[in-house]
Amino acid sequence: MALPLTFLGIESSCDDTAAAIVRATGDTGEILSNVVAGQTELHAAFGGVVPEIAARAHAEKLDICVEQALDQAGLTLDAIDAVAVTAGPGLIGGVMSGVMCAKGIAAGSGLPLVGVNHLAGHALTPRLTDALAFPYLMLLVSGGHCQFLIVKSADEFVRLGGTIDDAPGEAFDKTAKLLALPQPGGPNVEAEATLGNPRAFAFPRPLLDRPGCDMSFSGLKTALLRARDQVVAEHGGLPRPIRRDFCASFQAAVTDVLVKKSRRAFDEYMALAPAHPAFAVAGGVAANQTIRAGLEAVAQDFGARFTAPPLRLCTDNAAMIAWAGIERFRTGARDDMTLAARPRWPLDQTAPALLGSGKKGAKA
Ligand code: KG4
Ligand code: ZN
Repeated sequence: MALPLTFLGIESSCDDTAAAIVRATGDTGEILSNVVAGQTELHAAFGGVVPEIAARAHAEKLDICVEQALDQAGLTLDAIDAVAVTAGPGLIGGVMSGVMCAKGIAAGSGLPLVGVNHLAGHALTPRLTDALAFPYLMLLVSGGHCQFLIVKSADEFVRLGGTIDDAPGEAFDKTAKLLALPQPGGPNVEAEATLGNPRAFAFPRPLLDRPGCDMSFSGLKTALLRARDQVVAEHGGLPRPIRRDFCASFQAAVTDVLVKKSRRAFDEYMALAPAHPAFAVAGGVAANQTIRAGLEAVAQDFGARFTAPPLRLCTDNAAMIAWAGIERFRTGARDDMTLAARPRWPLDQTAPALLGSGKKGAKA
């Protein structure tokens, strides 16, 4: 099929129902529409995403999102070349809703169907936004993900390591909770941290003494909890200046781990002698200025380009799924009515399974 290619993308693997239209114009693409219907309020009372509630909401919203995506792009299905859908990993009820919706559209309109790995959607986004050339180094760092990948092609990913427990965004959110700061924790902890002393508390930097790129963030919150309880016992409460020091010291520990592990990831990446070395960071935590500056400095040290897609394309969306679908389609990938929804689907089939999964459920 010749360019331009226009794809409908569908995403429903967690708590965002999304549909988007993306047109590939060459090395990169144009987002014609990008509809995301979140479910935050549906899950708010439960302290996490409830899979059954999520699946039902996806089933109710998918058709509407697809219709809106077509409307906003000013297109009908006749102008679409194929349907790309997240086929995993994620909460199985939601993934099934999306896959069934996509199959229905493909069967009804005779369009080709392409199943997409949700993580490949995140990992290929820097090609949609910045036309990065393969291979590039990628750090996915959000409330649900934390892993280093070498993206070698649209379907070849080498996972260098990842969190074995909490994702950093999750750690920021838990820290905010422990310090009675509002959610989402990341931006609020960051704001407090700017006024605090990052050396006031020596929080742990787990796994830095071990080789490789695996990380751990769950011990941080335990250390913080202990330190907080001690302060509360001594002061009869948590004085604001100490709270700021907690935030700054916590942020310094996360930054330190991500920066040092990025250097290790770079050592492995640069061994491939990439012609145009590049480091892409995606996910909500990439919005953190201190962390971002630390990662950018690492890229600079290795003479690599640094890029971070805009936040709306880092959080779950269907434009990334449409784009990943286009990339897979170009390599000849096609699916049919046997396409299965997969709760687990590691990007790198050869890497050992990660123990950690992040707050939104098992991802890899
Ligand atoms: O990528 P994202 O929007 O959603 C998923 O987790 O899938 O990431 C949200 C996470 C939250 O945990 C939030 O606290 C964190 O990213 N976050 C931040 C900042 N802004 C958002 N963490 C640290 N600093 C920030 N400025
Ligand atoms: Zn995601």
